[in-house]
Amino acid sequence: TQIPATLIPGDGIGPEVVDATVQVLAALGSPFSWDIQQAGMAGVNSCGDPLPAATLSSIRENKLALKGPLTTPVGGGFRSSNVRLREEFQLYANVRPARTIVPGRFEDIDVVLIRENIGGFYVAHEYYIPVGDDPRAVAVSTGINTREACKKIARFAFEYAVKNGRKKITVVHKANILKALTGIFLEAAREVAREYEGKVQMNDMIVDACAMQLVLNPWQFDMLLCTNLFGDILSDQLAGLVGGLGMAPGANIGDDVAIFEAVHGSAPDIAGKGIANPISLLLAAGQMLDHVGHDDLALRLRTVINDTINKDHIATGDLKGKASTQEFTDAIVRRLG
Ligand code: NAI
Ligand code: MG
Repeated sequence: TQIPATLIPGDGIGPEVVDATVQVLAALGSPFSWDIQQAGMAGVNSCGDPLPAATLSSIRENKLALKGPLTTPVGGGFRSSNVRLREEFQLYANVRPARTIVPGRFEDIDVVLIRENIGGFYVAHEYYIPVGDDPRAVAVSTGINTREACKKIARFAFEYAVKNGRKKITVVHKANILKALTGIFLEAAREVAREYEGKVQMNDMIVDACAMQLVLNPWQFDMLLCTNLFGDILSDQLAGLVGGLGMAPGANIGDDVAIFEAVHGSAPDIAGKGIANPISLLLAAGQMLDHVGHDDLALRLRTVINDTINKDHIATGDLKGKASTQEFTDAIVRRLG
């Protein structure tokens, strides 16, 4: 049976990696039937809105979406459509696995980072206070974490660990300085951890120390549970350990809706050149297959990606290969054929 899902090509390299992913999913025999919708600059250009109503209602109806990256102008302009999507559908958990596919400086990395996805500093209650004739003399930013939201993301992480056979969760915080904002996160995690005693271990680490440990000894980590901002930063670092942003998928999960995407952005520096690495979005599609219960197809997808890289030795430029996006996609499709 077909599963209806919203497909958002997005901006920059978005349409290129989305096109590659759709080709691979078709060859895999995936169950998704796509409803194509626009967002980001593509939404602005087609209907004057970075998050058109038609896109929102499609996601609301299907409860499932695969999306390419959306460009957010820095500073003024509109607010990040990604952040708005996460708020709109209360996608409170961001699941970002990092596994070595390309043996490089670090081998055998296998860490899943769970990022709290709607609170913390991302509520972006920001304003300026004028002093004298400078209207922007002081900038203020407020972060918000509720105990309820912290317990919810902690419970999500521990449940994920149980379901996926993971043994240890490292809670990342800065409770020595941001005692309230990240202290409550640590406190809630400790509370939830008690329910999982004997099944899943928990330890905690201050974010700066964690950043160093990730480079010194990444193998000590099994799962990381992070507040929103720290999770954003450390998941890019994790991506760096396994070959860069071309290798990093992310699932945004709520109680009703789930949106799957690459961790990377629209990569304007390489957009339109046909050289983007589609693996991040392919792996996100794998998470999407897992999410709807097609673990078998997800596993097959991960295996052919791995074999294309390690047996066929075909890869895009970011992985020191020579293949274009389409050549790499063709190689994967050949293995599925
Ligand atoms: P970026 O992730 O787009 O690019 C950073 C660097 O990584 C660039 O050198 C780029 O060429 C490279 N890169 C990224 N993905 C790649 C891929 N698949 N294959 C090969 N190389 C790849 O980050 P940047 O430049 O900071 O952001 C560009 C735009 O994307 C901004 O407007 C930002 O707001 C947006 N963005 C959107 C996200 C989303 O929709 N989830 C996430 C992150 C950024
Ligand atoms: Mg990010």
